[in-house]
Amino acid sequence: MTIVLITGASRGLGARTAQRLAGQGCTVFAASRKPDRSGRPSSSGLDMRPIGLDVVDDDSVAAAVREVEEAVGSLDVLVNNAGIPGTWAPAEQVQPADFAHVLATNLLGPVRVTQAFLPLLRRGHRPRLVMVSSGMGSLTLQSSDDTYRDIAHLPYPASKAALNMLAVQYAKALPDVLVTAVDPGLTATEFTDNAGHSVEEGSDVIVSAALDTAGPTGRFMDRHGSTPW
Ligand SMILES: NC(=O)c1ccc[n+]([C@@H]2O[C@H](COP(=O)([O-])OP(=O)(O)OC[C@H]3O[C@@H](n4cnc5c(N)ncnc54)[C@H](OP(=O)(O)O)[C@@H]3O)[C@@H](O)[C@H]2O)c1
Repeated sequence: MTIVLITGASRGLGARTAQRLAGQGCTVFAASRKPDRSGRPSSSGLDMRPIGLDVVDDDSVAAAVREVEEAVGSLDVLVNNAGIPGTWAPAEQVQPADFAHVLATNLLGPVRVTQAFLPLLRRGHRPRLVMVSSGMGSLTLQSSDDTYRDIAHLPYPASKAALNMLAVQYAKALPDVLVTAVDPGLTATEFTDNAGHSVEEGSDVIVSAALDTAGPTGRFMDRHGSTPW
């Protein structure tokens, strides 16, 4: 039985990934800021466990670690999925303060959650860390791919580029953990006002990275395979 925790599981890619992993037989801690703890018995038979977790809040993350430890004692896969787009204002209008919340959520959130769950991950089976990044954070794609030619935004791509670097550094620093950054591709969620491919397609790479125990570590993947940093 593989034990997974995924952040931002209230909707969109996180919710679908949680369902799919539970459907594959995983025990899934579906973490969100407002978990549904009504206790209604699941008719699906899936082992899906709602848990509270706000990635910008130390106390909330510490409480989630305690809850997982008391329930199952270890973690095999941590998926850092929660993320926000921040402002899409023209570059001339973006202020340093506009970066603060985006970086706090998209970069410092994964740092906080990863550090806090690392002891449980290290007790897990073939521990895996999945960073849900974006092609928007790829320096190569942003400077060469036609898809991004006319897109110039500051905070969100910068946060995902930094997240990619975090994945590379964690892969070196934590040789006992398999680290994968993933790009779901433009996916129809609230995040994109429902533009893009299906949530099923977007979640493909998150699910496969979460279930992959072979590696190698330190890769950036999309649903077609390796993608450039
Ligand atoms: N959709 C795309 O095209 C696309 C493409 C590439 C990468 N991504 C990445 O994929 C991830 C998921 O995006 P999505 O499209 O599924 O977006 P979404 O539908 O807007 O969902 C975002 C999720 O993040 C959660 N969240 C935001 N701030 C949080 C916080 N402080 N603590 C805990 N959870 C928080 C939200 O929870 P609440 O319900 O509590 O707000 C929600 O569950 C993000 O990291 C995004 O950057 C998306």
